[in-house]
Amino acid sequence: MDTIGRQVTAFVTMFMLAGLIILMYMIFEPQRRAAAYNEQVETAAVRGGHLFAENCVVCHGPQGNGITGAGFALNTEDNKVPDDDRRTYIRNILNNGRQNSNGWEPNMPIFLETNGGPLNPQQIDDIITFIGCGDWNEVSHVLTGELGTPINAIPAPPNFKTPNARILPGAPVATVAAGASGKNPGASVFEANCITCHKITPEYPNGAGVGPDLTGVAIRKIPSRAPIIPNQIDVPTEGAAGLHKWIRDPSSVRSGSGMPAFGADKISDPDLDALTKWLMTHTTPPTTTPAKSCFQTIAR
Ligand code: HEC
Ligand code: HEC
Repeated sequence: MDTIGRQVTAFVTMFMLAGLIILMYMIFEPQRRAAAYNEQVETAAVRGGHLFAENCVVCHGPQGNGITGAGFALNTEDNKVPDDDRRTYIRNILNNGRQNSNGWEPNMPIFLETNGGPLNPQQIDDIITFIGCGDWNEVSHVLTGELGTPINAIPAPPNFKTPNARILPGAPVATVAAGASGKNPGASVFEANCITCHKITPEYPNGAGVGPDLTGVAIRKIPSRAPIIPNQIDVPTEGAAGLHKWIRDPSSVRSGSGMPAFGADKISDPDLDALTKWLMTHTTPPTTTPAKSCFQTIAR
């Protein structure tokens, strides 16, 4: 009797212990998995960022903005948090290359090693993860750090705008010289001087994110990141003149501003007039779209 009782107690205890272990597992396993998954995405993106710095910046730029007439912009909404379809699309281009649709050099090169390129499938996948999930500023860090290439020493795309020998049937012919499009002159000045640090919609949604998004700049106070400084410029009141002042010398408005000054040696007075006039047409504030994420939420 006694032994049976003890056996029963032992059995029940073991049973409860097992239950407890299963319960703990059920509680913590999803968290552990999400954390492991996130770490995987992050390390893949870091590897991909390195590969991007080594292989892609010459034609697509260090922020993935693209170079008109060379590589297309890659830092686009479409490429963010890529689903399987988008991954396949990008992978195909990296695997097989693509004819430059302008009809001039360079083409998008073949990258897959079995097709004669320099990268293996894992590396190509890492680059896609970087494009969709990584931090574009990492590329500049890799370039200036490890690779010892200052951003302004990145060479021009190879054979840029020389006639392309490999014209595919149906590829559009280049008729418009760079900068000679029917574009608003202010937009051209913006494109030449500002998209390396700013985006503005609808024209340049793929500009870089070093400075604030300038969408709706005509209806805000600047600098907007520090709303309490006394001599902040109220753009709706001061208009183009206010923007003029800021662009010529940001540090006169806020000392130590992270934006470089654009003196008359960089942008002439007529060009600056065209630019500020064009900026003043941007009266629609940015729409906030819920941020997509490549990472899994870790339950708490
Ligand atoms: C020698 C220049 C060059 C290099 C280097 C280069 N590309 Fe390209 N890439 C191009 C050109 C040119 C196009 C546009 C082809 C066209 O006009 O259709 C392009 C297009 C693309 C596209 C298609 C974009 C779209 O929206 O359709 C992707 C993706 C891409 N490149 C990724 C990369 C990646 C990633 C690397 C680095 C591993 C890279 N490219 C390196 C020139 C280059
Ligand atoms: C090297 C990067 C860089 C370049 C190039 C650059 N900016 Fe900026 N810009 C910044 C940074 C950083 C800020 C934020 C400065 C601050 O808050 O003090 C800024 C702020 C601004 C602001 C104020 C926006 C706000 O909401 O506060 C305007 C307007 C602006 N820039 C216009 C321009 C124009 C127009 C050009 C091209 C002529 C240009 N920037 C070129 C980095 C840059």
